[in-house]
Amino acid sequence: MNRVKKITCIGAGYVGGPTMSVIAQKNPHVEVTVVDMNQTRIAAWNNDDLSQLPIYEPGLDAVVQEARGRNLFFSTDVDKAIQEADMIFISVNTPTKTYGKGKGQAADLKFIELCARQIAAVASTDKIVVEKSTLPVRTAEALKSILDNTGNGVNFHILSNPEFLAEGTAVADLHNPDRVLIGGENAAAIEALVQVYEAWVPRERIITTNLWSSELSKLVANAFLAQRVSSINSISELCEVTGANVDDVSRAIGQDSRIGSKFLKASVGFGGSCFQKDILNLVYIARSYNLYEVANYWEQVILLNDHQKTRFAEKIIKTMYNTVNGKDIAFLGWAFKKDTNDTRESAAIHVADHLLDEEAHVIVYDPKVTAEQVYRDLDYLGTRSPEDNRRLVNVVNDPYEALDNAHAVAVLTEWDEFKTYDWAKVKAGMKRPSFVFDGRKLLDRQQLEALGFDYYAIGE
Ligand code: NAD
Ligand code: UGA
Repeated sequence: MNRVKKITCIGAGYVGGPTMSVIAQKNPHVEVTVVDMNQTRIAAWNNDDLSQLPIYEPGLDAVVQEARGRNLFFSTDVDKAIQEADMIFISVNTPTKTYGKGKGQAADLKFIELCARQIAAVASTDKIVVEKSTLPVRTAEALKSILDNTGNGVNFHILSNPEFLAEGTAVADLHNPDRVLIGGENAAAIEALVQVYEAWVPRERIITTNLWSSELSKLVANAFLAQRVSSINSISELCEVTGANVDDVSRAIGQDSRIGSKFLKASVGFGGSCFQKDILNLVYIARSYNLYEVANYWEQVILLNDHQKTRFAEKIIKTMYNTVNGKDIAFLGWAFKKDTNDTRESAAIHVADHLLDEEAHVIVYDPKVTAEQVYRDLDYLGTRSPEDNRRLVNVVNDPYEALDNAHAVAVLTEWDEFKTYDWAKVKAGMKRPSFVFDGRKLLDRQQLEALGFDYYAIGE
């Protein structure tokens, strides 16, 4: 098979945007077009002002600046981009189903199927179709069937190439991946994709497997990562009642090279668009094969995570004399982790919801999340009316405005800037006693206690 000359990616989101930007940056002779049906998103990707890109990722602006207009293009003309490409990545969203069979667990594949049907309808030359979205194992089978049955007699080769980047470090992860995984059946198609990555990834880090191992490995990688967070979070609760410190435990066990030091940071609970969705999907798949013990084992990772979020909210209420009604609680952070504006499944949403049920007044400050997004997240839960969410929640652009006169501070995201605040000034402006609930173990206990704060951190 010849070298790929034109790549199209359907889906200009958190994965499609950064991934294609780096592929274009590293393959200047390949024309890369990212398409999306969301016109606003595409307009933002084309914005001359690089601070207005639709997603915030450190270093992404420089990559886009280098490649955009040279061999990287963003467009809403999906048909044209499909028609012209040799290789088409599908990078659309695959959320948990909210209706019908598998509701609340299975992945919703309607966007994937729409892409396949559109590719089949439009393509008049052979295409390599690459699954970049995270998909249930054996989805390639369904894709192949749709493409072959509804297509125009051209050849489609399907590859699975799951993405392992983490938000907030997407560009660094893409530039220097631990591995690239490519699953497929056709050797020439696999080789064509290997060549794209070989432009910057050492060959020994490019793993090739069959389709099913590749699809399944992506779900399993997320399940293992999330399992580590739930494991250490379970120990954080035990630390709180025994006098052990979870950071000490993490360090002590992480030094064991068989365990490893990464992903052992206790927190208010993992969030993000994928951990929960992908584990639920794994659980659903296991149940659908009647593997109940396997399903129950992995489901526990989610249940523990829910417990951790609830436990943090209840700790706040209990410590504040069992009532937060009418009290001002400043939230530092709303994003699901630092260095991203993504709030999907953020622990902050669930902690806020719990406190709002108790009629607390929550004032949110996050360096990258807009007020509209905060209200959208709360309204989406449907727990109370949009009017009540706006009555009980304020979103401010200045952290000191959130903190001034507050009864308590809750740290929900580990943004570096929170460490640099003038905490003496904050203390002077707050109600007494001045509570700090650190869901990220970010702040300095000694410093805060010396200033007179009542400081609580997870796992201490
Ligand atoms: P996203 O919601 O940010 O982006 C998906 C985009 O696809 C949206 O802009 C949507 O408008 C577009 N889209 C949907 N259907 C379309 C269609 N038929 N035609 C054109 N555009 C269409 O999602 P994301 O976070 O980029 O995730 C995409 C996939 O990658 C998911 O399967 C996810 O599990 C996986 N993934 C995500 C991450 C991450 O960090 N976010 C990491 C690895 C893998
Ligand atoms: C995660 C995986 O790390 C990526 O490899 C994967 O590609 C991606 O999911 C995906 O499939 O979407 P992401 O969700 O972007 O990436 O971010 P992570 O860094 O994994 O963090 C997830 C959540 O776990 C965050 O809320 C984070 O704060 C929390 N976390 C992480 C902890 O609480 N403790 C830790 O030690 C690590």
